[in-house]
Amino acid sequence: MEAIFIRRSIRKYKDQPVEKEKIEKLLRAAMQAPSAGNQQPWEFIVVQEKDNLKKLSKMSPYSKFIKDAPVAFVLIANEERMKFPEHWQQDMGAAAQNILLEAVELELGAVWVGVAPLEDRVNYVKNMFNLRETLKPYCVIALGYPAEGQENKFIDRYDETRVHFEKF
Ligand SMILES: Cc1cc2nc3c(=O)[nH]c(=O)nc-3n(C[C@H](O)[C@H](O)[C@H](O)COP(=O)(O)O)c2cc1C
Repeated sequence: MEAIFIRRSIRKYKDQPVEKEKIEKLLRAAMQAPSAGNQQPWEFIVVQEKDNLKKLSKMSPYSKFIKDAPVAFVLIANEERMKFPEHWQQDMGAAAQNILLEAVELELGAVWVGVAPLEDRVNYVKNMFNLRETLKPYCVIALGYPAEGQENKFIDRYDETRVHFEKF
């Protein structure tokens, strides 16, 4: 699938909003992800207001670019929906990756910004959105149309020394 091979982390965006239809498509892609026992623990906060993006960008030294993104998704796992709580991070990871790949398909650029399990970032997001204890922030994905010079493009990372047939 081409999107897998050309996807890059894109952190600079055009000053152009992302269409409502595309936002919905991205969230639909997220919710198509596999999850343990089909528990679908995810919830999403769509952040588009400048003040909120600015506040979110202060979560860590590595999230500053969020303030200039047209949109960011906050991915949250809802403990109340979990049947297999030990697997929630994996469920959320699959949903996050679906968003990144769908973004490529929609000619957008995106980047995964880590939150869980770093306590300071988790608490920052919890406080910002006043989340109850059962809602666990997982990651943030910033999105937009890639700025000039920023593009999804292929970088070859295949390394045959990592492949082990039958034994290590
Ligand atoms: C769990 C996780 C956390 C990440 N956190 C950040 C982050 O806080 N800030 C950031 O700019 N990029 C973050 N990234 C993006 C990585 O830096 C990026 O995926 C990596 O450098 C490889 O580049 P590529 O995505 O273009 O292939 C994160 C990626 C993952 C999977």
